[in-house]
Amino acid sequence: MALSLFSKTKKAIIERAQDDYATKMRLKYKPYYHAMEWQEGTRIRLQGRDMIMLSSNDYLGLSFHPKVIEACGAAAKIWGTSTTGARISNGSRSYHTALEEKIAAFLGREACHISVAGYVSCCSAVATFAQKGDVILADKNIHSCLWDGVRLSMAGVERFSHNNPEDLRQVLKSLPHGTPKMLVVEGVYSMEGHVCRLPEIAQLAEEAGCFTVLDDAHGFGVLGRQGRGTVDHFKLNDKVDILCGSMSKSLASTGGFITGSRDMIEYLRTNSKQTLFSAAIGPSQAATASASLDVMQSEPQHLERLWRNTKRYREMLKGLGLDTWESETPAVPIVLGSKELVYRFWNALLDKGVFTVMSIAPAVPPGKDLIRTAVSALHSDADLEKIAAAMAYAVKQL
Ligand SMILES: Cc1ncc(COP(=O)(O)O)c(C=O)c1O
Repeated sequence: MALSLFSKTKKAIIERAQDDYATKMRLKYKPYYHAMEWQEGTRIRLQGRDMIMLSSNDYLGLSFHPKVIEACGAAAKIWGTSTTGARISNGSRSYHTALEEKIAAFLGREACHISVAGYVSCCSAVATFAQKGDVILADKNIHSCLWDGVRLSMAGVERFSHNNPEDLRQVLKSLPHGTPKMLVVEGVYSMEGHVCRLPEIAQLAEEAGCFTVLDDAHGFGVLGRQGRGTVDHFKLNDKVDILCGSMSKSLASTGGFITGSRDMIEYLRTNSKQTLFSAAIGPSQAATASASLDVMQSEPQHLERLWRNTKRYREMLKGLGLDTWESETPAVPIVLGSKELVYRFWNALLDKGVFTVMSIAPAVPPGKDLIRTAVSALHSDADLEKIAAAMAYAVKQL
């Protein structure tokens, strides 16, 4: 009797989740979570149809590089599949420290700490160093992982207009003198493809005594010498305290990294909850990232091809009169401004065998609903021709 009474009690959280409008819409229109049945390079198969992938973050196309695949498989044979533990306890291995040293040396930083995801690393880079009583100055368009870091830190937050040094200057002026401050920006903004105006922004941050955190998930592998990223592109290594990023894009793996001075990274290893209480990155993922980093340095043709493809793709979109939000990088949005237009455009591309991703408000600012596309070094000339034909068709459907 008691059991049946209990089972009738309504659970507010379950009801709320079941009534969630966004989930209902997602299940009705099925725009996301497409499980592809096969992939080779830029080619995928979806519901039995072969298509071109145009929204992956595999900028350098290394996820199908023979040396990278070989390293991934070999690591599991040597180390097993997982360390099943956190770095602080039973989970540290020499392949972790080797990869950290390699990333730190590549980026010209004293030290590095790697973790299971870029999301974790970038969130932790903010949450660990800021605390209650501090003020974080955040670009309005930073990634969700950085906002999570801001919230976890319990610091106060001041947003400034996207990539706008003048607005940052005004916000800085309004802050009380002596408050510890942190600046949080991205090197390349993932949705917009904008490159951070780092020279002006970092200068203002330095004058105001801000600790600077830069997430270069989309600049790493793409900008700078051999793909060293946005900070290297501007030669401003000494102006950025923490440079973090993801291994799931140009490094063709999963995982994240945080780099900085040795004392900052040791502080992080003592204080970051995400580091202390989460298992270490597995051997195959680390080996994949390590092999990709080697290829980045020994085979410049991938970066060259990426930029050649990017230029050609951007010109193609421009020729069709599409709004690419002034993207300067291989992450190229097609801004259509409403979710109806985005849905129609996305469907038209799908009809013509091109897979892209819709991004609608609130994931993007209101009126900026867009199709997120990204070029890879792996796209062939034939791919780009097929993409051009599909884009021309999609424009006609608007
Ligand atoms: C700017 C930025 N930072 C961090 C991340 C998280 O990286 P990961 O997918 O490796 O967790 C992403 C991924 O989309 C990103 O775009």
